[in-house]
Order: sequence, then C-alpha cells, then structure tokens
Amino acid sequence: MTRRAAVLAGLGGWIPPMRVTNEDLAAQLDTTDEWITSRTGIRQRFVVGPGVSTSDIAVEAGRRALDSAGVSAVGLVVLATSTPDHPCPATAPEVASRLGLGEVPAFDVAAVCTGFVYALATAAGMVDTGIATSALVIGADTFSTILDPRDRTTRAIFGDGAGAVVLRAGERGERGALLGFDLGSDGTLADLITMPAGGSEQRSSELAADESDFYLSMRGRPVFRHAVTRMSETSLRLADRIGWPAPEIDRLVAHQANIRILTAVGGELGLPADRIVANLDRVGNTVAASIPLALVDAVGSGELTAGHRVLLCGFGGGLTWGAVGLEFPELPVQPLPGLATRVLSTRTK
Ligand code: COA
Repeated sequence: MTRRAAVLAGLGGWIPPMRVTNEDLAAQLDTTDEWITSRTGIRQRFVVGPGVSTSDIAVEAGRRALDSAGVSAVGLVVLATSTPDHPCPATAPEVASRLGLGEVPAFDVAAVCTGFVYALATAAGMVDTGIATSALVIGADTFSTILDPRDRTTRAIFGDGAGAVVLRAGERGERGALLGFDLGSDGTLADLITMPAGGSEQRSSELAADESDFYLSMRGRPVFRHAVTRMSETSLRLADRIGWPAPEIDRLVAHQANIRILTAVGGELGLPADRIVANLDRVGNTVAASIPLALVDAVGSGELTAGHRVLLCGFGGGLTWGAVGLEFPELPVQPLPGLATRVLSTRTK
C-alpha cells in the first residue's frame, strides 16, 4: 500500500505595494546602495502602509494559493508569523474567516524566518494522520512594523510579504508529496534575533527602560555564521533522510536573508549557482513569507518547473532551522503583484 502524504496543490504570494529602494534608505540613514547591495544582495523591499496589518497580506496570499489549487475550502489553516495582528488572539482564525473558510481549525506558528517550514511540517503531519484532509499554510510577516527607523542594518534587510500553499491528502509516490522534514532549534542563542519587550517577560503595560526594546534587535555577524552552518546541516540531513544525493538537488529554495549566505550554503551542498533560487534582490528578507515568495517568483520566471527535486530550507530567530524536500508539481501561479508599482516616498528633508 502506498503511504499517505501531504501533497502540494496550490501556491500564491502577495507583497504590499509600497516599495523602498536602497536609495530611499540612503536618503534617510547613514548607508549607501553600494553597501547594501554588496553586503546583502538586496536592492529593494516592500512595506505595508499605516492601517495594513499581517492579516491583510495573509488573506491576499491565501486567496491566490486557493485559486492556484482550484479550491474554495480547506480543512485547516496554519499561519506562520512573528508579527501577528495582536499578541492575543492568533491571527489565523481571522484570516480563515475573511477567506470564507468557515469554522475550520486555525492557529499561528511562531518560528520567525523558519516559520513557514515549521507550519508546513505541522500541517503536513495533520494531513498525514487524517486530522485534516487539506490545509492552507501561510507565511506572512510585517517586520517593517517592528524595526527601529534609525537602524540601518535591519531596515536594509527586512521587507514585508506573504506567501501561501495548499496541501491536500495524497500518496507519497505522487509528484508534489512532501517527502520528509528535518527541524531543530537552539534556544541558548535566543538573544541573537529578538524583540525584547511586549511579551510576558518585559510587558508592554510597563514603560520599558529603553524604547529600543520594542524594536527588533539582531546581531548580524553571528546570525550570518549560524545561518550558513545550520542551513547547510539541516539540508544535508534532510537530503540523506529522503535518499537524495545533495548534488542531485535541482533547486535549493532557502530562506532569503543574504545572497552571501545562499551562496555559502549552495557551496556546502555542492550546488552550482544556477540551482540556487534567489529573489531577495527584489523583496528583501520577508521572514516567514520568504520561502513561498521565492517559490512563486521561481515558478513565474520558469526557473522552477514540474519534476524538479526541490529542497526548501529555513533558518531564523529562536534559533530555529528546518528543511523539507519534494518533487515539484505542475501548478498555475499568479506572478507577484507589486514588483514594479509605486515607490513609497520615504525621503526626509
Ligand atoms: N550600511 C552601512 N554600513 C552598515 C550597514 C548599512 N546598512 N549595516 C551595518 N553596517 C556597518 C556596521 O555598523 C559595521 O560598522 P563598524 O565596523 O563601524 O562597526 C560594519 O558595517 C560591518 O558590520 P558587520 O555586521 O560586521 O557587517 P557584515 O558584513 O556582517 O554585514 C549583515 C552585516 C547584517 C548584512 C550580515 O551580518 C548579515 O547578513 N547577517 C545575517 C542577517 C540575517 O540573515 N538576518 C536574518 C536571519 S533570519
């Protein structure tokens, strides 16, 4: 008997319309387009405007994934986000309702930039075991809402966005079946990427000693080092677990944090540059949305096609990391909307 598996059946993404270029940042902060491009590979990112929240962009991405799958109902919604609309309740139930999905189970998963891989594993497990027959898995974050406007490092890196997939119950031998996961974490390094205040430890009801505690703080250098090591290790473990020799991976779709990280991980896996998907130049690091947005872009450009052996790999705050492999299915995918839309004027006098 063929083993039951969760199968990728739909894919969609959304980025908000307001574009912030490196030049926009250079007009406000002590940075240059040259520095940002050469150190990160990022040229622009998109941000939500006032009044637009994570649920808004999650709904847009979710709708596109449902369209791609050709379905109007699913049995489960899992939203990966570290910037929920509110600390309480979770954002997923509201997203499910706004998508007209009825009273389905819906909850958030918080694993920062690894959130999408964790959410995918959670949903796949529920589909594998028959708890749900299908699932909408969304990765959506609006990190622009938690960045210190004076911080040239984080503002250069992070952008907002949402990406989503539909999973259906199927069989392991089918194209699109999620073949296995590798997941991990190291909480001893929690302080490398953190927003210290606003939780139960340093409460938002008390005035923080330092207002910067309400902004994201990141120690770039060690994060870079751990990203390369952990993404390489988790990818190699996963490839071994599902019986793929690493050099036979057709496309590595890894978390889009820094082009130098992607190149280094590709090198560790023995993959040439043309097998490493990168769209961070146009959207920046979109946190939980980064992997599905890279998938949408790669399918749209023809870089990723049905039959490719694809390894998805995430790394982020926590620290957390994870990988999943699949043979990519045929999917209709709408291109990302805003890549050539209006520019947000962020220039100060
Ligand atoms: N423009 C100009 N200079 C900048 C800058 C910017 N946007 N951001 C940082 N710098 C400066 C630093 O202040 C530092 O100056 P100093 O030497 O006077 O102190 C200098 O550049 C070097 O900083 P460093 O952090 O060592 O640079 P780096 O080459 O490591 O690049 C990152 C910085 C953040 C781009 C890089 O460390 C990185 O990508 N880290 C991983 C980030 C990431 O992936 N986060 C998400 C993980 S999920």
